[in-house]
Amino acid sequence: MSSARIVVVGTGYVGLTTGACLASLGHRVTCVDVDEAKVARLSAGRVDILEPGLAELVGRGLAARRLSFVVGAREAVATADAVFLCVPTPMGAGGSADLRAVEAVTDEIRDTVPSGCALVTKSTVPVGTARRIRALLGRADVPVVSNPEFLREGTAVADFLGPDRIVVGSDDEAAARRVADLYEQLSAPVVVTDAASAELVKYAANCFLAMKLSYVNAVAELCERLGADIEAVTEGMGHDRRIGRSFLKPGPGWGGSCLPKDTAAMVRFAEAAGYDFTMLTAAISENLAQRERVLAKIAGAVGGNLSGARVGVLGLAFKAGTDDLRDSPALAVASALFAHGAEVTAYDPAVGGELPGMIVVDDPYQVAKGADVVVLLTEWNEFRRLDWAYMAELMVGDTVVDTRNLLDPHTVLDAGLIWQGIGRPHAR
Ligand code: UGA
Repeated sequence: MSSARIVVVGTGYVGLTTGACLASLGHRVTCVDVDEAKVARLSAGRVDILEPGLAELVGRGLAARRLSFVVGAREAVATADAVFLCVPTPMGAGGSADLRAVEAVTDEIRDTVPSGCALVTKSTVPVGTARRIRALLGRADVPVVSNPEFLREGTAVADFLGPDRIVVGSDDEAAARRVADLYEQLSAPVVVTDAASAELVKYAANCFLAMKLSYVNAVAELCERLGADIEAVTEGMGHDRRIGRSFLKPGPGWGGSCLPKDTAAMVRFAEAAGYDFTMLTAAISENLAQRERVLAKIAGAVGGNLSGARVGVLGLAFKAGTDDLRDSPALAVASALFAHGAEVTAYDPAVGGELPGMIVVDDPYQVAKGADVVVLLTEWNEFRRLDWAYMAELMVGDTVVDTRNLLDPHTVLDAGLIWQGIGRPHAR
């Protein structure tokens, strides 16, 4: 399919990235949303998601008339070759994915989607959803295809246009191949499979990453207890090509809008299938334990009692490069500090406004002012370039807890401060 007519339903970060990138590959893309104001903003080229390269791609797509934004999927799908469902699937009751948005769109387009048009799920949906949608749609002439996305926030455009792999699955193999052809310009390996397997790839991959991180955080804890250095340990592990070098950085725990939701959902659907996925539940508990260990470390740095302690927090977003606070371990730690009676002042280059339990400032040096301890929770590069001698002058206490092992310990040390990382010997 060299130039296809594509409708993308949902203009969140997955939908908008998918729409803008498919348009950049030469397809004619209509993006649909229920939010009229958002559609108007996007039609004028205004992108309110912090995602490098996305606004430019949207602008180019609009200018080339290959990309448009409309309200309402019903009419939009009438001439489509493929309809991509990119609506939210939040964590519903008891950890299972809430599919109401997917079901609502299916209802809306039932009578207007043309024969032979592929209905593609991009959203992370539980295994069996493609079959469920097919049954709900009740149209044997409309194949349902699962095409999970593997985009990371902050690098979504680059991930879309330079993917490690493309996965498409359908019980109608020809339809799966047609969807794979939409990406033919991208030289990535393509896995064509059945719908259930494609749906499972997404969970299996995200949950593997979560387990990898929990494992690294647990090994980092062991490093502290045994006097080893996690940086050296993970470097030594990472050269093994079977393990790989990425996703080996310890931190305050994993978070964001995907890994917590997907791990909970996988435990849930495994349980429904009669399998107790203890390996995954252990990874989830380990992630919570990591936050507690970080809190204990901060408490230790102020003499054991957080009540009344003044804590300066650097970073609130769940990772660098995004303003996303959803399931952010940084935010969870900052909130827990407040719950333990600490006075929290926080700075994040991408986060402003008011947050409960803390004062959010717009200058990193303000977090150091009068602080008993400074805690780095998100790995923003700009924190490396802070004037640590000035930070030390402003602080009352003498310890920096660097939960991302981001800073050069010697820089902090030279400023007359104590540096405490994760899984590394303290520098004092
Ligand atoms: C994740 C996956 O990486 C994507 O492949 C997937 O498409 C996406 O979820 C999704 O399902 O939509 P994302 O949530 O954007 O992407 O974030 P990641 O970059 O994967 O980071 C997840 C968490 O792990 C963050 O809290 C991050 O700080 C943490 N992390 C990551 C570490 O603590 N150490 C590392 O070495 C890497």
